[in-house]
Amino acid sequence: MTAEPLVTTTLPPDLDRDRLPRHVAVIMDGNGRWAQRRGLPRIMGHRQGVDTLKKLLRTCNDWGIGALTAYAFSTENWGRPHAEVDFLMTLFERVLRQELAEMNAEGVRIQFVGNLQSLPASLQAEIARAVQLTHENPGICFTIATNYGGRQEIVQACQAIAAEVQLGKLAPEDIDEHLFSRHLYTADLADPDLLIRTSGEMRISNFLLWQLAYAELYVTDTLWPDFHLDEFHQALSDYQQRHRRFGKV
Ligand code: FPP
Repeated sequence: MTAEPLVTTTLPPDLDRDRLPRHVAVIMDGNGRWAQRRGLPRIMGHRQGVDTLKKLLRTCNDWGIGALTAYAFSTENWGRPHAEVDFLMTLFERVLRQELAEMNAEGVRIQFVGNLQSLPASLQAEIARAVQLTHENPGICFTIATNYGGRQEIVQACQAIAAEVQLGKLAPEDIDEHLFSRHLYTADLADPDLLIRTSGEMRISNFLLWQLAYAELYVTDTLWPDFHLDEFHQALSDYQQRHRRFGKV
């Protein structure tokens, strides 16, 4: 990502400000295919994907969406070729270093979810710096899921709750949905209202399994690097036409 002049966009008039999703989650799929279709190495797709994410974050912040969560690296992604994993780890670190000052100036609050202890030490340090610098910012909450797995998150929450029960701090009957949510990585975040997945796959892929229970889904064939503002606008229009019933009639 290179420094660009800051252009603030206003909410398109056909969108109802009062009915925007408070929290948008994205599965950024299709980077590899985007690059391969152009005869480029897969990593070029990830690089381009960062640009798409940066623009989406700025748009969400400009349009008054309170939270954006992006699935950057799953617990299963370690199974990719070493060179690609190494590239991604270096990319995350470089992007954080290069973009932190600008995100901070725009009021973005950065947080990471996932098993961060297994990430390279230098990336962990960059993450800690970004979180610490931005934790009181008033703008959008930007959550990056890195080495994240929904099942793993649920298991670690169970372990933490079981330990509290064992210590006598909690009784089994104290465990309810609210308490369980408080033990997830996303304890301080409202559940996503809208999940966007690019590249046409109809899967959740172990992403926010608990939190997406009532999210509206928007799946598009567009590959992530080509997911531009016009399509995000379309996703929001679509969302505003849905009738969310949360299991009621
Ligand atoms: C999936 O596409 C994409 C990823 C596994 C990586 C996504 C990461 C970024 C866009 C970088 C984000 C950067 C920061 C700092 C948050 P794929 O490789 O599975 O594509 P394919 O399905 O076409 O192979």
